[in-house]
Order: sequence, then structure tokens, then C-alpha cells
Amino acid sequence: AAPGLLDPSGRTAVDLRVSLTDRCTLRCGYCMPPEGLDWMPDDELLTDDEVVRLVRLAVERLGVREVRYTGGEPLLRRGLERVVAATTALRTADGSPVEASMTTNALGLDRRAAGLAAAGLRRVNVSLDTLRPERFAAITHRDRHADVLRGVAAAAEAGIGPVKVNAVLMPGVNDDEAPDLLAWALAHGYELRVIEQMPIDAQGAWSRDGLVTADDVLGSLRAAYDLEADDPATRGGAPAQTYRVRPRGADPASAPLGRVGVIASVTRPFCEACDRTRLTADGQVRSCLFSTSETDLRGLLRGGAPDDEVADVWRAAMWGKAPAHGIGEAEPLTTSGFARPSRSMSAIGG
Ligand code: GTP
Ligand code: 5AD
Ligand code: SF4
Repeated sequence: AAPGLLDPSGRTAVDLRVSLTDRCTLRCGYCMPPEGLDWMPDDELLTDDEVVRLVRLAVERLGVREVRYTGGEPLLRRGLERVVAATTALRTADGSPVEASMTTNALGLDRRAAGLAAAGLRRVNVSLDTLRPERFAAITHRDRHADVLRGVAAAAEAGIGPVKVNAVLMPGVNDDEAPDLLAWALAHGYELRVIEQMPIDAQGAWSRDGLVTADDVLGSLRAAYDLEADDPATRGGAPAQTYRVRPRGADPASAPLGRVGVIASVTRPFCEACDRTRLTADGQVRSCLFSTSETDLRGLLRGGAPDDEVADVWRAAMWGKAPAHGIGEAEPLTTSGFARPSRSMSAIGG
């Protein structure tokens, strides 16, 4: 078989993350300013058919096994259900089905969960940083907390799961909320993951002082729960280190209440095990979230290039993948010696 998406550090990308739009229905402060950004013009976005062609090629020729749709907010894309259905109909070269998932803020998911489940969507990760409506409005600049909760519940009800909930904690804003978020997630059967904030916001406002670390979070959770780490050998390319959760002082042999994860992108980077390749909404391949360069596939598609050529260009792009992002390499932790990526998270894809 033709080689997959290899890089010089010995990694193989099998997990494709596709951004479907750079727009979003929220304005989380760690992502973009309240007034929004200069959105991509419509004619620069890949069409649904172009997305499906690239996903098919990635799966059939480049060894991709999992596809995650992101944004911006992927629910803003009208053709999402069709794109997901076309994705889940694909088979890898060895005949395996492709797992399709989505990362979303869940606004409007209540109306679309059933359709997405029918299209074969297997998993959904929802961004939710707080259980308090007034904090939600302060963080996202939109008063839509109840809508998000409805969306999460609808996904679970439609059988898209297990639902994971992504929370970014910020000092003085919601850094006291990890135990409450965990209690809520456990009660609903969701997996909470607390994420370290990365320097990839549009405003360039990230600083080490504003970082709530994975260790901070684990410390605050251990006041209320016993956490038993899952074997790191089973983690693979997953960004989260997960823990089995029990009530404090419980018999370690008892059944856990559920799981919690920490995504320590800054203090314990997982670049070494990275198995991702990315496609932006405007058809650029990125070998890394933090890449400083991109490779254009949209122009190739629109210029009539055959699949073989597109696949070769994608392979070459991944061969340029850097070994690591280097955010945490300077001590004390700063962003010096680290190059910010050429675009911010919402334009790259979360
Ligand atoms: P699963 O483990 O498959 O459920 O998904 P995921 O955790 O990879 O995806 P999700 O979209 O939920 O991402 C969660 C968080 O992981 C994001 O908020 C980022 O902080 C982090 N993350 C995702 N992709 C990357 C990446 O390529 N590099 C780094 N450093 N962090 C990433
Ligand atoms: N650092 C870490 N995570 C971020 N997200 C958005 N911006 C950042 C950032 N600067 C998260 C969102 C979402 C996921 C795709 O990325 O909360 O869950
Ligand atoms: Fe992989 Fe780049 Fe993310 Fe590191 S920063 S985990 S190399 S995509």
C-alpha cells in the first residue's frame, strides 16, 4: 500500500481534524475578541463536496482512520449532516469503518443531535467552562448557557457518546469550579476534561500568569475525590491523561464513579505521540496546530489536480511537521523561543 502520512520524527498521522468554518456563535475570551474576527469569504471555504473528496482521499489513500469535525463552530455548517454521513460511509484500505466525531459548543445541537446520530456521528466533545450562567455570559459574551446544557443533553439522549466536556479554567474567573464541573459531569455520565490554555488566542493575550495548570486542577479535585491514573501506555495519541474517579476515601477496589481527564498541552506536551493532521476550512493542510506554514489543497482541487497529486502534496506537507511546539521549553515558562502559529485557533480548527 502507498505510505501514509509520516513525518521525520517517526510519527504517522491517522487522525484528521477538519475545520468546517472559522465562524462561531460564541466569543470565548481565550479564543477571540468580543467583536469577532475578519471571517473567511465564502468562496474561499471548501464546499461540502470538496471536503468530502479530501476526507475520502485521506481515508482511502493516506491511512486516516478517524475524522473529527471542528470550527469555529461546526454546527454553523448547513451541510454538516451530509458531510458526516459521507464520512461514515467510507472504509479504510483494510475495510474498517471510519470514526466520525465533532468538537462543538453545542449551541443548536438540541435540534440536530438526532440527525447527526443518524448520519453516524459517534462522539461529541462539548466546550463548557462553567455551570454558572452569569460566568458563562462573562466568558463567552453571549447569554446562552441554558441552550448549551440543552444541546449536551440532546447529544447524550441521541446516543452520541460518551459525551466529553472540555473546560478551560482561568484564574479569578472559573478556576474554583473544577470540583463542581466534575460532580455535574459524573452525575450525567459525561467525561470532564480540563484543558490548559494555550497561546493560540487571536488577541495574543496569553501569558504564563494566566495559566491554570493540570497540577493545579488535580490538586483541587483531590480535595473531594480519589483519582487513580489510567495506564499511560493505553493513551496512544490522546491529549488527555485520564483518571478513574472515586469518592474521597473510597475502597480502591470499588467501582469508579466515572473518569476525568486533564489536557496538559503546556506543562506536559504530548507532541511525541501526536497522530494528527489538520485541514482548515479554506483547504490548507497543517501538520500541527502550531505550524507556522500551511500547504494549499484548495487550489489543487480547483485547478483539476487528480487524487494522486493531492495525496502526494498532503504527504509532503506532513513530512514538514515539527517535532514539538516548544511552548514549555523556556523556564520560567514564557512564549519566548516559541513561534505563534500564523493564525489563531478558531481559524485553524480546535
Ligand atoms: P478525543 O481524545 O478523540 O476525544 O479528542 P480530542 O481531545 O483530541 O479533541 P478535542 O477537540 O476535544 O480537543 C481537546 C483539547 O485538546 C483542545 O482544546 C486542545 O486544547 C487540545 N488539542 C487538540 N488538538 C491538539 C493539538 O493538535 N495539539 C495540542 N497541543 N493540543 C491539542
Ligand atoms: N487553549 C486551549 N484550549 C482552547 N480552546 C479554544 N481556545 C483554546 C486555547 N487558547 C478549546 C475550546 C474547545 C477546544 C476545541 O479548544 O474550549 O473545547
Ligand atoms: Fe502534535 Fe503539533 Fe499538537 Fe504537538 S502541537 S501535539 S506536534 S499537533
